[in-house]
Amino acid sequence: MTLADVIIIISRDGGAFLSRWLHVVVGITWIGLLYYFNFVQVPAFAEMEAAARNNAVDKLASRALWWFRWAAVATVLTGLMILLFQKAGTKAQLFSGDYWKSTPGISIATGILLALTMFLNVWLVIWPNQRKVIANARNVQAGGEADPDAAAAGRKALLASRMNAIFSLPMLFFMVGTSHFLGGFFKPFPEGSDRAVYWIIAIVIWGVLELSALGVIGGTKPGGTNVIFDTHKAALWAGFILVVVYYLLFWVMFKI
Ligand code: HEM
Repeated sequence: MTLADVIIIISRDGGAFLSRWLHVVVGITWIGLLYYFNFVQVPAFAEMEAAARNNAVDKLASRALWWFRWAAVATVLTGLMILLFQKAGTKAQLFSGDYWKSTPGISIATGILLALTMFLNVWLVIWPNQRKVIANARNVQAGGEADPDAAAAGRKALLASRMNAIFSLPMLFFMVGTSHFLGGFFKPFPEGSDRAVYWIIAIVIWGVLELSALGVIGGTKPGGTNVIFDTHKAALWAGFILVVVYYLLFWVMFKI
């Protein structure tokens, strides 16, 4: 082994380790704030008087949202870095088609599908709507008229946020499971037809849930099919049930 080989191995393995570590640091920042919003802030705000709530939106929620959305960006970037540094054969996993046909590849791809959806919910739904809520709170505090659209904007952000809380459980299951759980239970390279069935079912479940969160299915009002978004406890139940459903699907399609 030459010195150049040693340097390449150290930088690749070191890079893979450092990006994995950073990924977990920024990932917990993002998901920790997501859980703070869902389990602490929303129930607390519901009990607060309007003036106190406007002040908290202005001073507290706006800061939490800054860390939240940029931690989401850092999580996606460091996740891509892990893929680039990791080795599959002689090619980086990101560019190795075979990797995505293996059970670890399918597992991480499922986690990434959920995580990217969560990322888009943050930047395209939660943040634009929360901006309206923050602008309204600041305007009212300054003595201005309340924005009649602020409540509807808050509702849209809430639905996407509860969807992200639900997705976070199976997302982390597959993120962590890729290296620590799959073990010897699953075929290393499942057949193409089994992969196709897996992806069709997984994507239909994901699509129905996300379209519900966006109000395309079932509207944005509480109750009916939106019952899983009605309380944070309902969202937690839905998340745990979704873990079982996705795991059973993985098990049925890919077990040895
Ligand atoms: C699009 C976004 C994401 C991408 C591309 C991504 C990518 C990855 C990759 C490639 C791995 C390594 C899998 C393996 O063990 O081979 C991983 C692991 C992991 N990811 Fe993500 N990820 C994303 C989002 C997230 C989020 C939102 C979290 C939230 C905390 C997260 C937490 C983790 C954790 C805890 C691990 C396990 C580390 C380990 O087992 O050593 N990821 N991710």
